[in-house]
Amino acid sequence: MKKIAAIYLMTLFLMSGAIYAQHSIIPVPRSYELTEGELVIDNGLEIILMTENESLKEQVTLFASQMKNSGIEFSVGQSEAGKTLKIGLNDTVLDTLGTEGYQLVVEDTGMLLTANTVAGTFNGLQTIKQLLPVKRETSKEGDLLPITIKTCVIEDAPRFGWRGLMLDVSRHFFTVDEVKAYLDQMAEFKFNVFHWHLTDDQGWRIEIKTFPKLTEVGAWRVERHGRFGSERAAPKKSEKTTYGGFYTQEEVKDIIAYAAARNITIVPEIDVPGHSMALLAAYPQYSTRKEFKHVNPGSKFVDWYGNGKFKMLVENTLNPADPAVYAFLDMIFEEIANLFPGEYIHMGGDECYHGFWEEDAKVKDFMAKNNINNGDELQSYFVKRVEKIISSKGKKMIGWDEILEGGLAEGAAVMSWRGMKGGIEAAGMGHEVVMTPTTFAYLDYTQGDYSVENKIYADLSLEKSYSFDPVPELVLDPDLILGGQGNLWTEDIPSLSFAFYMTYPRALALSESLWSNKSNKDWDNFLERTSAHLDRFDAKNISAARTLYEPEVHVYKEGSKLMCELKNYFSDIDMYYTIDNTYPVSFGQKYEGPFQIPAGNLKLRVQSFRNGEPIERLLIINRKDLESRVK
Ligand code: ACM
Repeated sequence: MKKIAAIYLMTLFLMSGAIYAQHSIIPVPRSYELTEGELVIDNGLEIILMTENESLKEQVTLFASQMKNSGIEFSVGQSEAGKTLKIGLNDTVLDTLGTEGYQLVVEDTGMLLTANTVAGTFNGLQTIKQLLPVKRETSKEGDLLPITIKTCVIEDAPRFGWRGLMLDVSRHFFTVDEVKAYLDQMAEFKFNVFHWHLTDDQGWRIEIKTFPKLTEVGAWRVERHGRFGSERAAPKKSEKTTYGGFYTQEEVKDIIAYAAARNITIVPEIDVPGHSMALLAAYPQYSTRKEFKHVNPGSKFVDWYGNGKFKMLVENTLNPADPAVYAFLDMIFEEIANLFPGEYIHMGGDECYHGFWEEDAKVKDFMAKNNINNGDELQSYFVKRVEKIISSKGKKMIGWDEILEGGLAEGAAVMSWRGMKGGIEAAGMGHEVVMTPTTFAYLDYTQGDYSVENKIYADLSLEKSYSFDPVPELVLDPDLILGGQGNLWTEDIPSLSFAFYMTYPRALALSESLWSNKSNKDWDNFLERTSAHLDRFDAKNISAARTLYEPEVHVYKEGSKLMCELKNYFSDIDMYYTIDNTYPVSFGQKYEGPFQIPAGNLKLRVQSFRNGEPIERLLIINRKDLESRVK
């Protein structure tokens, strides 16, 4: 019996192994079957389009241009003389592929890619890219070497239709080219929603033609450096606002088209009624106090009390009792709806402080007249009016989970960020939900050791991101969970390279959680594939983090002894350390198990090595820091 079980397990292992063996595709496809044979590509493949379709033509032109620097030639033609990449759309829809799936057959004569839609062929082309090197290797003499791929059959389709990443362009302004670079990488991993956080206290980033001051004033702030919210000085009265930027409507259209060519829909966010300081710097009349204010440069304006409780020291909320506010928002959303072709508009709704409302005589009067009993209900009143505005433009409204408080607007979709509770509640009431819980999906959270990383709010490991399942058991109707997304808030992310560093590889973990079948996910195998992708990021000159190789340092007390335990994800990585203030660590101790940190003003130095070579940076942690880690 035992033997039979062992054979059965072995067979299962081999079968599931077949999904992963010989490839590093992320997100892992629904099915991948190796076949007997090899495709040898000497120069490139000739692309043959089997279906006349303008979008498909544009898609392969883009693909060929993206492959230009790889040393692999993709020409579009008809000759079929050499090896080919044939691409076609199914005459008869194959239900298993849905609207974004594809089939890819790799044979010794070439590749055949088919799908029901151009979204499907686009996704298939991303898989093909991952089967090929970023750059063809050359011989010692400098000749390009042929590429050999194991032949295979792939059938693939996503688990969720909403696979998003959010980029906050308010706290730091990213240029058009930087946004495009961000979209390029998203598309490679089959993300299909770009949530563009366009407005916040630190800057209004989109041209609204009816209200030019939104960008003339709201897009600019005084220049400050240092940690957001703690180290930056408040603006001085007549200081010049030199930092910032915004996207003109022409630029927005360009980015929308760029995203669409990459199977990405943009969800624009206009964050109201809170997070509106930049708007109010331009148009203070839409607050209760109507006072002059600066666009916030990251200087402190909130007292945080923990547990999500806070007090705003500067009014950054719109006045929900003022009819002019709704007329103003109507015109803004009119322009937004006309610009963005997608189904959803995000209205924010998060972290809205009620204090200024509750102190204002006119607001109190308004509440009494309208039977509104408290701040939550007033916020809900506001959200319901905004929902009516957005739906009147033919769009669906989505907002952060605070829009549940005081009663959810009819037809609103909820983006659940404070855990999944809000999402579960909204789905329970029949509303659509996108899951973006901080605990799995906040890409601004710290991903490596605090001694070398910025300590931001909380931490989030790659492993935790990989364990994300957007459909918790408590959801009775999983169809209401549209999917999920990772959020990159940029309070402390002042450059594109650092944005990439924080996004990848955790976004790879999210892409697999959102695209792949649960049964195909495998952490150890994901680590192997991620390692291969880190090399690809290097080849693409993109700054993905390598913290997955870094030792995890755990400190605890054993009686009066201060003890240290080191962990890492890989069995072939050795960790070497010293605790006597000496270098080099490679000549120190090889980690074999928990050790004591002796008394004294000592530093722990620790580093990961593979095959005798350092594989990630050296950590240096002083004793005080070590002691502070004891739980
Ligand atoms: C949020 O993180 N304030 C949605």
